[in-house]
Amino acid sequence: MRNGCFITFEGSDGCGKSTQAKLLAEYLTSMDYEVVLTREPGGTPLAENIRQVILTPTAETLHPMTEILLYAASRAQHVEELIKPALAAGKVVICDRFIDSSLAYQGYGLGRDLQMVSEINLAAVGAVLPDLTIVIDITVEEALERAISRSGQIQDRIESRDLQFHQRVRQGFLELAKDNPRMKVLEASGKSIEQIHSEVINQVQPVISSNKANF
Ligand SMILES: Nc1ncnc2c1ncn2[C@@H]1O[C@H](COP(=O)(O)OP(=O)(O)OP(=O)(O)O)[C@@H](O)[C@H]1O
Ligand SMILES: [Mg+2]
Repeated sequence: MRNGCFITFEGSDGCGKSTQAKLLAEYLTSMDYEVVLTREPGGTPLAENIRQVILTPTAETLHPMTEILLYAASRAQHVEELIKPALAAGKVVICDRFIDSSLAYQGYGLGRDLQMVSEINLAAVGAVLPDLTIVIDITVEEALERAISRSGQIQDRIESRDLQFHQRVRQGFLELAKDNPRMKVLEASGKSIEQIHSEVINQVQPVISSNKANF
């Protein structure tokens, strides 16, 4: 039986997920909630090892089906080892990317069968789905510019895909949100980090309040 609250951040590379996830974690901690801030792929040592396999560029091609299964494997481990126990202990779990990233990147981005990607990932997470998913939406150009300016170069094998790929991913997140009441799109182009943070809090507050009996 779940008690806690599960919040995920989604959106294109560089849209501000990690920035907002951290700010939300700090805010909720200051409000005396017990918070676990985690990320995907990764979140546990074993899942972080899988992350390295996925993201480190090598001479060998990472085939789409391998990519789908590695993300799902990393997610299954993360859910069982970290997310489920934290929710059962009544904590707020904030996760930087989760199942919707697989649907947007491998489904919409790579053009793999969405139903298949969805089924594999639903099997990986079991019944553990977010109470709230915030999709941070900015233009692909803006997102990539930011991601690149962090390091001065394209960072990993996923970021280095072409612009059309990232456009499909962005549209994918928006499509997913249309059919899914747990997903809220936050229009973030041109907005400051602080402004987006306060909009995030506005989205989070009712969800946390409706779970209040559990805290
Ligand atoms: N609203 C904003 N306005 C301007 N810059 C921002 C804003 N939000 C985040 N940034 C900056 O953009 C860069 C990318 O942000 P962040 O790392 O949070 O994105 P991300 O979505 O986690 O990226 P990735 O998908 O690559 O992990 C950082 O340098 C961050 O400081
Ligand atoms: Mg990030």
